[in-house]
Amino acid sequence: MPVSIMKKALFVLLATLASAGYGQEKVLNVYSGRHYQSDEALYAGFTKATGIKVNRIEASEDAIIERVRNEGARSPADVMITVDAGRLWRAQQLDLFQPVKSAALEKRIPESLREPTGHWFGFSTRARVIAYNKERVRPGEISTYEELADPKWKGRVCMRSSTNIYNLSLMGALIDHLGSQKAEQWAKGVRANLAVEPKGGDTDQLKAVAAGQCDVTVSNQYYYARLARSEKPEEKQVAAKLGVVLPNQATWGTHVNISGAGVLKHAPHRENAVKFLEYLASDEAQRYFADGNNEWPAVRSVKVDNPVLNALGDFKRDAINVAVLGKNQPDSQKIYDRVAWK
Ligand SMILES: [Fe+2]
Repeated sequence: MPVSIMKKALFVLLATLASAGYGQEKVLNVYSGRHYQSDEALYAGFTKATGIKVNRIEASEDAIIERVRNEGARSPADVMITVDAGRLWRAQQLDLFQPVKSAALEKRIPESLREPTGHWFGFSTRARVIAYNKERVRPGEISTYEELADPKWKGRVCMRSSTNIYNLSLMGALIDHLGSQKAEQWAKGVRANLAVEPKGGDTDQLKAVAAGQCDVTVSNQYYYARLARSEKPEEKQVAAKLGVVLPNQATWGTHVNISGAGVLKHAPHRENAVKFLEYLASDEAQRYFADGNNEWPAVRSVKVDNPVLNALGDFKRDAINVAVLGKNQPDSQKIYDRVAWK
């Protein structure tokens, strides 16, 4: 047999064995909506522990989902990492994930932070906090999400758009705790209290409060932490003007969301992908994963050395399963639309 044909035959044999799962290649393809410096250490740590090389594609959160969707069954992607349970839920609705059963993940990740059938798992948590202008609001003057709808705050509230995934997920939690009717009344009340039409992201809301354009807002805590830890004096000054409240401590707890990941339906390296998720739940990876974005590790026993988060202290977190935030998403959007919250 000529050498070239032998080579071809060998290649076909190896390809067949690989697709049958024999001796899976020591490779993992990760599509990530995160781009933090500490993620480098995370991937290097995984390679060191397992010998599996990680190839990464990074893009915006929504672009990642689109890409996996368009690639379909031919996608080389094994794992998708993205933020917000509402977005992971969307990806699940598009049938992009496959379920994973892992005793290690079930042991390490709290039940409320993972999708009940194993399609995705939360690896760090973020809280949607209330921020206020310390010159215009006294500490303790507002302590719940519900109070944002009180006429007392008329013309004093800044909020970003209701189409934003963070506000959709917050509404998902409110629907679960208050019921749809009361949640809609809340949205109506907050809408009526707005100082300006919704625009910009969480950081813009924080800056507007610091500048006195409004007195209160909600934001994910890491935007506040970024400002507080910034090396730019003007950003530090924004944070210095703000008081931060972890809402609803006396009732259902502060609304928390996740950064998370799941194994993709057509993952060519499924075993490696599961190993990677298990690695993400390890003490070492938990620290890197949370620290990169000023978040809290999903594994509660893992502590991070983050002065801003430590200053906020421990707090009561909402105990509902984060998958509920996704399940309620269509209703959340309808409520916001009905009250004309842009
Ligand atoms: Fe964000």
